[in-house]
Amino acid sequence: FQPPFPPYDPTDKSGFSYETVAKRWPVILTSIVNQIHRENHDLHLRPLIGDSESAHSEEESFRVDAKITEGKAIIEKVGKLKYEMARDHVMEPIPMDGEPHVDFYNSELENLAKASKDTWFKAPWLYAECYLYRLLRSYFVQTTHWKDYDPFHAQKLDVFAKSGASIYGIAKIMHELESEKGALESDPSKLKVFFQEMIQMCLWGNATDLSLLTHMSLVDIEKLQSVGKEMQAARKEFIMRDDQDKVWEHLTTVKNGRVDFVLDNAGFELFTDLYVCDDHPLDQRSSSIPPFTSPKLIPWFVSDVTPPDFNETIACLLRPTSLFTTSSSSSSLLPSPEQQQHLRKLAERLRQYVSEGVFAMSVPGGTGLGGGLTTTAPTTATATTSNMVMTTTAATTHSLAEFWTAPVPYWDIETYDRELWEFLRGSDLVVFKGDLNYRKLTGDIKWPSWTSFEEALGPLAGSFPLLSLRTNKADVAVGLDKEVLAQIEEKDANWRVNGK
Ligand code: F6P
Ligand code: MG
Repeated sequence: FQPPFPPYDPTDKSGFSYETVAKRWPVILTSIVNQIHRENHDLHLRPLIGDSESAHSEEESFRVDAKITEGKAIIEKVGKLKYEMARDHVMEPIPMDGEPHVDFYNSELENLAKASKDTWFKAPWLYAECYLYRLLRSYFVQTTHWKDYDPFHAQKLDVFAKSGASIYGIAKIMHELESEKGALESDPSKLKVFFQEMIQMCLWGNATDLSLLTHMSLVDIEKLQSVGKEMQAARKEFIMRDDQDKVWEHLTTVKNGRVDFVLDNAGFELFTDLYVCDDHPLDQRSSSIPPFTSPKLIPWFVSDVTPPDFNETIACLLRPTSLFTTSSSSSSLLPSPEQQQHLRKLAERLRQYVSEGVFAMSVPGGTGLGGGLTTTAPTTATATTSNMVMTTTAATTHSLAEFWTAPVPYWDIETYDRELWEFLRGSDLVVFKGDLNYRKLTGDIKWPSWTSFEEALGPLAGSFPLLSLRTNKADVAVGLDKEVLAQIEEKDANWRVNGK
């Protein structure tokens, strides 16, 4: 599909992609370097503080030395990348590292070279950003000791730890709703209000995106996360395009259907996604087939959910006091026993759904999350609560989750991944979470903002019912009334990218 406008790229210095390449990516790369330095430092110390047996085994000390050496090599590569990025060098081909999409990334790079757009400040932003995370993955996967390392894991966990206040708030709301369940079920108008609250919670959960922390404070984020009816009402004016009524109407016609989630960020956002899928009065309306969730199989855009993050989120919710103790502005008090009980109940339920396969995940073998939806035999890899990412073990495996780390606009899903396409066509609603999914839905094209969403979807429009829940963190925006646009332009010049 050839859209009638070009994609966003950093040649426009007033756009967010320029700021991203010039300022935000260097910060992200530096954070990776720092993280590996820390790990290497800890490895150096280990023989001094470890238990005598493992500390002095020769084999172990060889392993540690080899890991430190590999760590240093990764640091060097990331440093070189940062240097080249700042000087607008040519983007190098992704090495054949045995992981998906190498050919596709590299052939796109060749096409860009023909148009002299294969450098950091000239390539289309969407392509370059996906390329960046895929290239970083190649640095790790080609090693022996850092193969499955997620350099963003510590950051994800750290920010999740600061979401305690909002998490407890949601657990309390869930608890209160349980007592109102009977009334809700018998009154469709109440059920609709409930649905809207859930969907908005899920929307604002997307405000917690760590790649944006380079210019958003934690206090800002906590404000966006805060829960409760008044907060929802106050934020209503920030919703620029709102199709909740249409979604509700659609869902009321679905019986025994399937709702799928293309996930975005780990931690708080994932919690709000799971919460929408929780056992609540909407169940009877929406689906009896498990929601199918698509994580990313490699560390992606800093905060995106990988299968281990998924498991870890549930594990953290089950032992919340060990995680949610650090405080930001308002969450400084330890949770009351009552709050803890509310959260435990919710977390137990989620854990049960995971173990019973009520939540299915599109990864090879299902990673112990119940029926994983994959087109191959299960692999032996297991997701744990460590910083390991889930990878496919056989080169031939094809997971329906692989597609989400290709640099492909969604109007090309059918061409690029026929199986996924067929699968999505069987869905009664596909919920695309977050900004990156929105950019891929619209191709990250410079559409005039009053272009209809349907037009911006290109050939994807009408293929299956879809809902995009996105807080704005990139320039592209469509489907807006000219009047709404004029008002917002006047109020907040930064509305396209500030996530608010
Ligand atoms: O520029 C902000 C940004 O990093 C974009 O590059 C990307 O589209 C987005 O944030 C990721 O946000 P989300 O997690 O909502 O997809
Ligand atoms: Mg994300």
